[in-house]
Amino acid sequence: MENKKEVLLTGDRPTGRLHIGHYVGSLRSRIKLQDDPRYDQYIFIADCQALTDNARNPEKIRQNLIEVALDYLAVGIDPNKNTIFVQSQIPELTELTFYYMNLVTLGRLQRNPTIKTEIKEKNFDGGIPTGFMTYPISQAADITAFNAKYVPCGEDQEPLLEQAREIVRAFNSIYGDVLVEPNGIFAAEGVCRRLPGIDGAEKMGKSLGNAIYLADESDVVKKKIMNMFTDPQHLRIEDPGHLEGNVPFIYLAAFAKPEHFAAFLPQYKNLDEMAAHYTRGGLGDGTVKKFLNEVLQSELGPIRERRKQYEQNIDYVYDMLQQGSIKARAVAAETLKRVRRAMGLEYFEDTSLRDEYKSKYAKK
Ligand code: TRP
Repeated sequence: MENKKEVLLTGDRPTGRLHIGHYVGSLRSRIKLQDDPRYDQYIFIADCQALTDNARNPEKIRQNLIEVALDYLAVGIDPNKNTIFVQSQIPELTELTFYYMNLVTLGRLQRNPTIKTEIKEKNFDGGIPTGFMTYPISQAADITAFNAKYVPCGEDQEPLLEQAREIVRAFNSIYGDVLVEPNGIFAAEGVCRRLPGIDGAEKMGKSLGNAIYLADESDVVKKKIMNMFTDPQHLRIEDPGHLEGNVPFIYLAAFAKPEHFAAFLPQYKNLDEMAAHYTRGGLGDGTVKKFLNEVLQSELGPIRERRKQYEQNIDYVYDMLQQGSIKARAVAAETLKRVRRAMGLEYFEDTSLRDEYKSKYAKK
């Protein structure tokens, strides 16, 4: 293969705009990795995967495609440093999925912990769509089509990566060494792996109404911070406060840097000092929230401004998705060709297949 860099790949379902959980869990590392010369990064919008539980809601997916693309550009994901593409524009992925389906049992899909959780969350009333049940297989196609060795993602994706690895091992052992086994790269700090909602719920999500979006206006961000769940026992400022499940402190752990303290709250050098004061008693939730607001506004402000510029240039956004998809498709087509060849399906291109028969039936 001509490409010697290691491939990184990540995708997002376009079911809503991206929020700060996506930012600390994944987008931030993509921005760092796009400048790392060791890697070649693919980033895609998983519209087909989003349709597996939104078949009757295609307009939502179509609209969020562009919202997610705007969020990418807004955070600083650079189309010149990454291949940014749209899943549905790569039909090769569907064909790979169909071959991989034969390597996975129904029982295995039903035991996937991420799928189990999602089935509970989504309570499908007309039954579970087959496409939804099999999306882990299609995700393995997404990953392997680009020979991705690393998948920067949230920890909820680990069972899907494990599924992909099993498919790779099965494929390679049956058909020969064609596919690359993927590994997850998780956000370094545990707190960034899963940011809770502003209400303290374990997960931040659009359906839960507890997210801070990258595109939220500054007054909306502020209001959400002021309503955040903290420590219900911390009634008076002098009372000792508790950090566990305390949303502003969790967000500060994900966002606050020493520069923020120097600029907005110089009485503390870092979060440890601030947290110690809170636990001792004497630091009010209002001060904590006010500081969090300064921190988040300084991080999100430039993102929001950049987004507004791209919103005025929708043609640019579509063009970059189209160019990226053309480039990505060529790579996926190359992998598919190797897969079909390994499986012995290239009947008309691979002359070794017909030569075998010629010699089998050759008159002695
Ligand atoms: N499952 C991912 C999500 O929920 C989206 C996704 C689809 C993905 N295919 C992928 C992520 C491949 C990483 C690699 O957002």
